[in-house]
Amino acid sequence: MMKERTCEISLTLNGRERRFFVEEQETLLHVLRERAGLTGAKKGCDLGECGACTVILNGRAVNSCCVFAVQADGGVVETIEGLGTPDRPHPLQQAFIDAGAIQCGFCTPGMIMAAKALLDREPRPGREAIRQALSGNLCRCTGYEKIERAVELAAEAIAGYTEKGGGAA
Ligand code: FES
Ligand code: FES
Repeated sequence: MMKERTCEISLTLNGRERRFFVEEQETLLHVLRERAGLTGAKKGCDLGECGACTVILNGRAVNSCCVFAVQADGGVVETIEGLGTPDRPHPLQQAFIDAGAIQCGFCTPGMIMAAKALLDREPRPGREAIRQALSGNLCRCTGYEKIERAVELAAEAIAGYTEKGGGAA
């Protein structure tokens, strides 16, 4: 059997320049989880069907199980680990908590990254745009209502106001 070729790639990963030696057929998801130690992106179906592995690559939400790492070479990658911290959660993370949009949590990193890609390009999306942006992300637990509400809450918080008129969140 022929051995796979190893290639060196560079990524801007959550704001830091990183280099990795990867197999030709290795996925971006594998690099993130196994080489970078970033296990937020989940390996669900590994087939591009569940969205649990969603990260942002060059501004677009992608299923990282379906992107070869070599295709991401030179790219800018954002993962859930680059968002907030437990002390200072990103508005999307806080909104998911506030809206009760997390149960088992398996889908949550992917949902949040898909939602972030949406809010980065469209800060005040309507329900339909939110539904569309999250249409590739499956959740077995919550139903989608609370997740969609969380994205609206985050958009409001990012815009600096809440429905209660309470000012910046
Ligand atoms: S693990 Fe990538 S889409 Fe399911
Ligand atoms: S919270 Fe369990 S799959 Fe979404």
